[in-house]
Amino acid sequence: APDVYRTIGDLRAALKPARMAGERIAMVPTMGALHDGHLSLVERARDEADRVVVSIFVNPTQFAPHEDFDAYPRNEDRDLEQLKALSVEAAFIPSVREMYPHGFATGVTVGGPSEGLESAFRPHFFDGVALVVTKLLLAAMPDVAIFGEKDYQQLCVVRRMVRDLNVPTEIIGAPTVRESDGLAMSSRNVYLSPDERKTATSLPATLREVIERLERGDDAHDVLSQARRTLEDVGFKVDYLELRDGETLGPVTEDTQSRRILVAVWLGRTRLIDNMAV
Ligand code: PAJ
Repeated sequence: APDVYRTIGDLRAALKPARMAGERIAMVPTMGALHDGHLSLVERARDEADRVVVSIFVNPTQFAPHEDFDAYPRNEDRDLEQLKALSVEAAFIPSVREMYPHGFATGVTVGGPSEGLESAFRPHFFDGVALVVTKLLLAAMPDVAIFGEKDYQQLCVVRRMVRDLNVPTEIIGAPTVRESDGLAMSSRNVYLSPDERKTATSLPATLREVIERLERGDDAHDVLSQARRTLEDVGFKVDYLELRDGETLGPVTEDTQSRRILVAVWLGRTRLIDNMAV
């Protein structure tokens, strides 16, 4: 089973000999409730490094007061079993107090790719993500860290933050792992009722249709407004459905090399996000 470290001091002490021996260290930050999406990042980390550190920390600073911090699924024993099966050496599982001791007073704000999309609906979300990812990377000082394209805007924000702050960690983005019907795996999918779970498959199906039509050359504005209506008709409440530049996440321009379609919807009390390359 992985060695579990609950303090930054213990994690650093454990990684020091590996670092001194010239081993490459990879980190996979998570909030636990691990599924095959997370595990694919761990496998990628295995390929990239000699030693893999998985962090499990449900980060309170990225949840708004009305969001699901308390209800967020937690299952440390099961998570550790899964990491054991992938022969992960180290799990970093700090307490909230370890990460945010009394008197904590520092923030990390990233502009650029954090603007719009998620931020329009969760205004402080990326401040919380950027803060905790900065702290996790400073705690483990990994050579490389793996993030999922599932949270595409988050991946872009982390890349920007690491570049802007000269964090000496290479950021790798890994593809979204999906259920057999196309739904992107997410720890929050357990919130869906059986009926909602059936409806949820329309989300990736609609994104695929959008891509097909865009690649055929149909007018982007028409395609997006029709897709939004389709989503609403099957019962989603749409927070956003937008086409953006896949590198900058800014608007699509003449210089755009790749486009990305990004979506967030509500299905009952569950919020789902997804995105695909066009
Ligand atoms: P969490 O939602 O647990 O996700 C941890 C990592 O797994 C993220 O990089 C996310 O993009 C990736 N991931 C989730 N579902 C995936 C899927 N279906 N396929 C591929 N990768 C997937 O994202 C967070 O935690 C937090 O914001 C965190 C970065 C840990 C900071 O608290």
